[in-house]
Amino acid sequence: MRTLVILTGAGMSSESGIRTFRDSGGLWEEYRVEEVATPEAWAADRNLVLRFYNERRRQLMDARPNTGHLGVAGLEKYFNVRVITQNIDDLHERAGSTSIVHLHGELTKARSTKDPSLIYDIGYKDILPGDTCELGSQLRPHIVWFGEPVPMMDKAVEIASGADIFAVIGSSLNVYPAAGLINYAPEKASLWLIDPKEVQVPVDRDVEVIRKGASEGVRVLIEKLLAIYGTGN
Ligand code: APR
Repeated sequence: MRTLVILTGAGMSSESGIRTFRDSGGLWEEYRVEEVATPEAWAADRNLVLRFYNERRRQLMDARPNTGHLGVAGLEKYFNVRVITQNIDDLHERAGSTSIVHLHGELTKARSTKDPSLIYDIGYKDILPGDTCELGSQLRPHIVWFGEPVPMMDKAVEIASGADIFAVIGSSLNVYPAAGLINYAPEKASLWLIDPKEVQVPVDRDVEVIRKGASEGVRVLIEKLLAIYGTGN
């Protein structure tokens, strides 16, 4: 089977009712990144940071995967699909995708502020001030904040390097190192982008652009990939 690597961003989940960050009406219009999504924010006002992510987690509980997520999962019938997502939601999992790397962490997990290897499944429950890990230190969201290293990046680079087909869905490609992953797709790989808006792709190669939202865009992608590669690859 050919390997289809799919890098997803906030636009993938937009039709599930989860707000993107940089569109008009996006989260970063309502909140300042520096106040909720940095280690400095955590040091300055951890209650505010916890509230911000608790709210995101509660919204996620009521969200459902959209037909885009389901289409991505369904592509596993024809391709070795590897999802690399910048999203902290669990909608790819709930849609049935089986290979998912979360570059920026996961809302449904908490981790120790003392030992980053202590990670706990919390589902859709709040993290409250005073909630501690087994070592007695405060729990924090299992999220990669701005200014923090991206521990899953090496794994993501390895996956991108094995792509026969590389598709980006619903990311403004503003945030590095995630945005640079497309550069690791081998020369022979075909490159695809699904987004209703124009996106500057940081690569000097042909990219097949599907200018549509995630649900409709994934439907078109499936049609095109099956026309090119067939169903028995
Ligand atoms: N379908 C597909 N794409 C959409 C849709 C949709 N229905 N609606 C909007 N988009 C596109 C926008 O046009 C934009 O290009 O999704 C993209 C969202 O971009 P951002 O809001 O910048 O989100 P993302 O690229 O995922 O941000 C990367 O930045 O704030 C951090 O850590 C956060 O993981 C996030 C990272």
